[in-house]
Amino acid sequence: MITLDFTNAMSNGQGERGLAPDDIDSLKDRLKDIHTDIIQRKMSEFYFLDLPHQNTEQISLMADNIRATSGYLLLLGIGGSALGPKAILQALKPFYNLKHSPKIFIYDNVDPSTLTPILTLIDLKRTTVNVITKSGSTVETMASFIILIHALKELHGEQFYKRIIATTDPEKGTLREMAAKFGFRTLPVHPDVVGRYSVLSPVGLLCSSVAGININGLLKGARDMLRRCSEENPWENPAYMTASLMYLLQQKKNKNISVIVPYADRLKAFSEWYCQLWAESLGKNGTGQTPYPSMGTTDQHSQLQLWIEGPRDKVVTFIKVDDYGYDVPILDSENEIKAMSYLKNHTLQQLIKAEQEATELALVKAGIPNIRINVPMIDAYYLGQLFLFFELVTAVTGMLYGINPFDQPAVEEGKNLTYGIMGRKGYENKGLEVMSYRERIQKSKYKI
Ligand code: PA5
Repeated sequence: MITLDFTNAMSNGQGERGLAPDDIDSLKDRLKDIHTDIIQRKMSEFYFLDLPHQNTEQISLMADNIRATSGYLLLLGIGGSALGPKAILQALKPFYNLKHSPKIFIYDNVDPSTLTPILTLIDLKRTTVNVITKSGSTVETMASFIILIHALKELHGEQFYKRIIATTDPEKGTLREMAAKFGFRTLPVHPDVVGRYSVLSPVGLLCSSVAGININGLLKGARDMLRRCSEENPWENPAYMTASLMYLLQQKKNKNISVIVPYADRLKAFSEWYCQLWAESLGKNGTGQTPYPSMGTTDQHSQLQLWIEGPRDKVVTFIKVDDYGYDVPILDSENEIKAMSYLKNHTLQQLIKAEQEATELALVKAGIPNIRINVPMIDAYYLGQLFLFFELVTAVTGMLYGINPFDQPAVEEGKNLTYGIMGRKGYENKGLEVMSYRERIQKSKYKI
């Protein structure tokens, strides 16, 4: 089981700068209500907690088919429809494309200087396109998809639809309508699953299964974590405790930045997944914490100076791995490099663990609150635990703030203005707004 150590967020670890047990206890009544809301699924978006119980047969069959028929899988999606798949692949199949087939590409932008090389690298004739958009109409995903449809039609004519799998809402949306019209194969994203909470749905599971990842192991890990986090009392529930700590550190101690530091290259994309989850879920009505995706040991040589001597506005979450699955002795058999002889008889695992511990203690000495998530190893089972854990922490933190952790109203304006620029019908006023903004910028004297 992954475990939480929060000693260094409490006053005994941090003196006046930490929290007191009474601070945690002051949230007990609110956590009791939140717990009831979760158990009763008061908000339908809590459906992400039911995903670990899903049947994966259809996903596995589709993955078998892709493996049998394709040399490449091209996944198109953005935000919650891409960051989860990326996190799983990097954690569980690092360097996958160098060693395995079908090669998997995840494209989550509309930068022509990336999509063009991808299209030259893959053999489109042997490619399955998995287009993922829950809403079915996200402009970035659909723009890339339109380009791919055109290219597939040129190669396969009327049969192009056989190369496409659409992962989307089971009933609504443009992509669902297209799937019905053209006959694409489809996988459903349950209507109540929000993008950034969808990693354990077909969004993350299809490409994982294609890559040979044990998707039932992921789900089993998530189920076990759910059970571990089923107590109402935060002192017995690591997710509720983490949510309480983050909320209180921000509210009472002005820790407005949440730094996440896995000591594992394979969890770099996981940090990015966490950052989207934390930012988009909590940044509402003036609340939230800015997440920062970090990496140990690398960022000790890039960010640590700032954490220790910069603004005292951060809480650091370490992810420590107990067993890396590999170890490498730092062997200097001839004992030639005298200056580094203290490394003799040590291994890379020992060094990375020493650096994590040393950094943690350095933060403690500087009075920077930090917590540590201990992960026994990075495999499907524990990754499933990590996903479910951080999803639950995020949702509960949002409820402590009294905001809706499942919507993202503020991103709409940028989308609407884009529609105005691109000439979408019904968004003419937004287009006019952009024109007047351009005029204002053109005339501005603040340019050098
Ligand atoms: O968390 C969210 O809801 C968003 O980040 C979405 O995942 C993102 O906007 C993509 O949406 P969609 O899957 O509808 O294309």
